[in-house]
Amino acid sequence: MSGIKTAYAAAYADGTALCSTNAYGDLSAVPEEVRNARQGCGSPTGDAKAYIKRGDVVVDLGCGAGLDAFLAALLVGERGRVVGVDFTPEALSIARRNAFPNMEFEEADFRELPLADCSADVIISNCAINLAEDKTAVFAEIYRVLKPGGRFVISDITAFQPVPLYIRHDREMLKRCIGGALEFAEFAALARRAGLLGFGAVSVRGYARIDGLDFVSVTAAAHKVPEAEGGGAPVVLTGPMSRAVTEFGEFRRGETRDADAETAAALRLPAYKPYFSFKEAPPVRKILPKSGACRYTGNFAVLTGAFSEIEDDDGHICRLGEPIEVCGKTSAVFGKRGYRGLVTLINRAAGRDVEAADAVCGGGCC
Ligand SMILES: C[S@@+](CC[C@H](N)C(=O)[O-])C[C@H]1O[C@@H](n2cnc3c(N)ncnc32)[C@H](O)[C@@H]1O
Repeated sequence: MSGIKTAYAAAYADGTALCSTNAYGDLSAVPEEVRNARQGCGSPTGDAKAYIKRGDVVVDLGCGAGLDAFLAALLVGERGRVVGVDFTPEALSIARRNAFPNMEFEEADFRELPLADCSADVIISNCAINLAEDKTAVFAEIYRVLKPGGRFVISDITAFQPVPLYIRHDREMLKRCIGGALEFAEFAALARRAGLLGFGAVSVRGYARIDGLDFVSVTAAAHKVPEAEGGGAPVVLTGPMSRAVTEFGEFRRGETRDADAETAAALRLPAYKPYFSFKEAPPVRKILPKSGACRYTGNFAVLTGAFSEIEDDDGHICRLGEPIEVCGKTSAVFGKRGYRGLVTLINRAAGRDVEAADAVCGGGCC
């Protein structure tokens, strides 16, 4: 996007923060100059640090002065390596003069990474991909550079509704990472079209509400599937959803499907594994709403987990990235373990006097 590099060069030179986050914990192990120059909106190395292991090769796209690259360098240890990539020299000077021995920084456009095929265990990024015009090229590069079994963890600003053109083309909003925000469903589709599987949110935090439109800071992960070892396996959806759709088709709770080796390997990824069993006739889980009166509280539910679609035991159908209005009882169901990591609840009625009579909830729970 024209002007982005210039805007960031000026921001790093005069210390202006164009984006912000409070998603980090203790940052005392990171050099002060790097901490002060951060421009992120989420925390791929905090919320999703379980995805980074000792000895890993980690690449940080749009690393800026390198806050997440430094945190990743601490996680991978001496045997690991971190490569930060950014096209703004002012940011890289800060990163390079503070670098730990297991870090290096490349001045490059992340749509054409100067890195070999299948060379990274993890690709991270914090609030940078929204700034790229050609996001398809970025995801193609992520797929190319990841090793089989590798994963990405990306924090970025995201919307659950279409972003109107007057925001998309507002120069100030663009450089503040809101104008180029991906719609959540589009974010998932880009990852899937590139060949990455099990795309789902690890965390979702409110970021801004502009003209009634919610922008959230999402940290999402997906995998390049490991080469399948061995043969297929029986696969059973164990719930709590009664039905779920993945890249490999639809599954109904309790029904056994003979999956080929590729499908079985994909369903063993961390995003799917908690919901499946690889043995026949496993115990299944249901979560039913409480009986009695329902109190509407103004919630929307959005499927942000790895499935394309799920159905609960009341007939509510949640599709990836599409908000639906839900009553208090359904909100309580989606807030329980099993659904909690899959469905995000957003309240749009804060401060309003909402009556139960205003409840709108598909399905038959009220
Ligand atoms: C909002 S800042 C985030 C920086 C850093 N990740 C952080 O959390 O502090 C976005 C960064 O992406 C870089 N950037 C934007 N588009 C880029 C591209 N196409 N190639 C490489 N770097 C890019 C900018 O230079 C800037 O440093």
